[in-house]
Amino acid sequence: MDSKLCNNLISFLVLLIPLCAVSQNSGNITVGASLTADGSSKPWLSPTGDFAFGFQQLPNNKDLFLLSIWFDQVPEKTVIWYTNGKNPVPRGSRIQLVAAGGLELRDPHNQIIWSTNLSPDETAYGYLNDTGNLVLFGSVSNRLWESFKNPADTIVPTQVIETNGMLISRKSVTNFSQGRFYARILDNGSFVLSTKSVASNIYFDFDYYTSPTSDLNASNSGYQVVFSERGSLFVRKRNGEQFGLSSRSLPPASENYYRATLNFDGVLIQYYHPKNGNPGWNVVGYWPDNICNSIYGLFGSGACGYNSVCQLKSGRPRCVCPRGFTLADPNDPYGDCKPNTVMSCMEGETGSLEDIFELVEIQDTDWPFNDYSQIVPSTEADCRSSCMNDCLCGAAIFRNHSCWKKRLPLSNGRTDATLDIKVFLRLRKGHDVPFLNRKNTKNQKTLIIIGSVLLASSVFLCITVAFVVFFLKYKKKITNSNTSLTSIGSNLRCFTYEELEQATSGFKKDLGRGAFGTVYKGVLPDSSETIIAVKKLERVAKDSEKEFRAEVNVIGHTHHKNLVRLLGYCHEGPNRLLVYEYMRNGTLAKFLFGEKKPRWVQRTQMALGVAKGLTYLHEECSNQIIHCDIKPQNILLDEYYTARISDFGLSKLLMMEQSRTSTDIRGTKGYVAPEWFRNTQITVKVDVYSFGVLLLEIVCCRKSLEYLKSSNDELSVLTDWVWDCYTERRLDILVENDYEALDDLKMVERFVKVGLWCIQDDISLRPSMKKASLMLEGIVDVKDPPCPYAFSTLS
Ligand SMILES: *[C@@H]1O[C@H](CO)[C@@H](O)[C@H](O)[C@H]1NC(C)=O
Ligand SMILES: *[C@@H]1O[C@H](CO)[C@@H](O)[C@H](O)[C@H]1NC(C)=O
Ligand SMILES: *[C@@H]1O[C@H](CO)[C@@H](O)[C@H](O)[C@H]1NC(C)=O
Ligand SMILES: *[C@@H]1O[C@H](CO)[C@@H](O)[C@H](O)[C@H]1NC(C)=O
Ligand SMILES: *[C@@H]1O[C@H](CO)[C@@H](O)[C@H](O)[C@H]1NC(C)=O
Ligand SMILES: *[C@@H]1O[C@H](CO)[C@@H](O)[C@H](O)[C@H]1NC(C)=O
Repeated sequence: MDSKLCNNLISFLVLLIPLCAVSQNSGNITVGASLTADGSSKPWLSPTGDFAFGFQQLPNNKDLFLLSIWFDQVPEKTVIWYTNGKNPVPRGSRIQLVAAGGLELRDPHNQIIWSTNLSPDETAYGYLNDTGNLVLFGSVSNRLWESFKNPADTIVPTQVIETNGMLISRKSVTNFSQGRFYARILDNGSFVLSTKSVASNIYFDFDYYTSPTSDLNASNSGYQVVFSERGSLFVRKRNGEQFGLSSRSLPPASENYYRATLNFDGVLIQYYHPKNGNPGWNVVGYWPDNICNSIYGLFGSGACGYNSVCQLKSGRPRCVCPRGFTLADPNDPYGDCKPNTVMSCMEGETGSLEDIFELVEIQDTDWPFNDYSQIVPSTEADCRSSCMNDCLCGAAIFRNHSCWKKRLPLSNGRTDATLDIKVFLRLRKGHDVPFLNRKNTKNQKTLIIIGSVLLASSVFLCITVAFVVFFLKYKKKITNSNTSLTSIGSNLRCFTYEELEQATSGFKKDLGRGAFGTVYKGVLPDSSETIIAVKKLERVAKDSEKEFRAEVNVIGHTHHKNLVRLLGYCHEGPNRLLVYEYMRNGTLAKFLFGEKKPRWVQRTQMALGVAKGLTYLHEECSNQIIHCDIKPQNILLDEYYTARISDFGLSKLLMMEQSRTSTDIRGTKGYVAPEWFRNTQITVKVDVYSFGVLLLEIVCCRKSLEYLKSSNDELSVLTDWVWDCYTERRLDILVENDYEALDDLKMVERFVKVGLWCIQDDISLRPSMKKASLMLEGIVDVKDPPCPYAFSTLS
């Protein structure tokens, strides 16, 4: 892992609020000295000021304080040691160095919360070293206590884990209580990472990483984990040999801070942080390689909670509830998932099980345990039917003529695209309903707000421009046109409002909301029983009847296999509706960012499809159409998973009344081309830009803007990340764990390069959609793209 930005994404920042100002310090702490948790008292500093000891406010609760040692010179004030994670103390608590006992932490009622408990030794003074070690000395300068010997979840250079020492992960980024994982070195010489029994009487510890440093000849076995002053991490053996954990060449320790933290998700990560310049912790290495596959066993839930599925992202686990399940505790995304509905059969339930349950196929996922029945040999159909008709069956796996039936709760779920298996969840029909309540965390809310600001602003900009273009271009046409409603478009059907009301059963089934209004599912009121999507337009300019007709006419004349087909419309009083073909497989966004990660071949086809659809809109249909809002939510998938662009031509139908508030979003990178923020002309190249972002999303299966929970809500910008990985020649990171894509890195590279050409700030550098299509198909060579942000420093 070389790229800083790539690493930033996975680095694990602890952003706590600094309480201090820099002060001169010798590192010495005299007996009697004390600090109060009040949010303003200065901490004790090491001689150079690299480290500080004192109280930090909890990031999510400013009235609770953690007694800790932290890197005082890094903006994140990253904590390396803490003691009262389980009992953060309230405002007014005090830490004091006393002769009898050493350090004493007392709450405002003077109750002892924590103490080094050194009596009967007399403490003479304390010293906070520049290594980050806090040492208490006795009267003859003997060492009584060291923070290095009582680590929390982190070690730093010059620190050693001895055979009786242990790192324990915390509960979450912001909760410093003990978590589920620990790291220690065993008597037989292995350095191990293990899961930790939380319930005292249930033992299901599992070693998920074991260093090969144990030896039957005890004099050759390991006995210490050493973090050297130069930043390397190794197991020291009794015969003097070293087993290196960190292998890559390390940036110099004189210019970088180092730490290794057993993260709350169980991954041990070694980081460095430049002392000057770039903020952020960069990853040197992590253990184990793939935590999703490393934790297993008959007891315990695996790397994620029960019923959850672990996906590896940049070495870290991401836990996802499968379809039909939601997080048991919405605040714990790494915890258990609970079914949305009753999973088993219920007493008094009538009707066949097929009427009540359905089998939902989950892609590339395995739950290797929880079997209660195996059927050999079996066919897929037998397997399905056997599970369907079995009230105990929660899931079934079919593989190589065998069928395994599994009961809940499922454990050790992980994604694995290499498995040739079929996995079915047996879910009650209607299982998706509570799903909507699920994504309710702060991060997502923020993202949604930012997203909507961005979207709203871009849409209004688009409308403004579109109207100008529209009036210039179609003015003549409108004044000349005298078309009656019925004659619009050769084969467009004009519906009455009542017809559509019936077709949608009173606008009951809401398929989603877009910038233009709500979309409802319905059935054509004729013998064909064609399923349709009816878009009820909102905010249509009141006096724009002619424009509406003209626009519908333009849309009605577009025919391309990568565009959603307009079947008809309704224009009655204030109601304006458009009737489209129904796209069975929903939006590309759902597909790309959902649990079922689409396969690489499908993704490449979709990218090509969108490129061709846009080429048609820009160059091949009779009236050029600028879409203005290309994003995965506006790409729909039909029953064959062909990508079809929707909402084209609609920007012209919206009203212009809303005020333009673009100043707030200046410079934010989403799908919006930078020229929206400049006084330059808007051309088809805005779509090329958005397409570039979309293309990179399709390659990486990642959103263009994403808040990283693992990095304290850090905003991650996809295009920056891709550019960094591209310059570092590490495109494999972009498609990590996607074996098909990893096997096809030439194509990945071609797609990424095209994406980077499309998102050039400089409009003239962006290719036309036609050229982009040809490049994607490999017909035209793709040159190395320059840095896309050539202009951003100027604007
Ligand atoms: C710190 O205190 C010890 C013991 O009093 C003393 O020997 C040492 O010189 C002091 N160091 C500094 C830098 O003041
Ligand atoms: C402080 O750290 C340095 C470097 O590891 C070490 O040489 C020195 O002995 C330490 N001082 C104390 C008081 O532990
Ligand atoms: C941390 O997590 C524990 C266990 O889930 C919980 O009891 C505690 O209240 C949490 N502490 C904070 C400060 O949120
Ligand atoms: C070392 O001890 C651990 C735990 O007891 C065990 O899992 C591991 O297999 C041992 N290693 C060897 C080489 O015996
Ligand atoms: C154990 O290893 C030491 C050092 O390599 C060697 O001298 C000794 O003979 C070994 N003992 C056995 C029983 O193999
Ligand atoms: C499928 O199962 C058969 C018999 O159980 C076994 O011989 C064969 O190796 C298996 N094939 C694979 C690909 O696992």
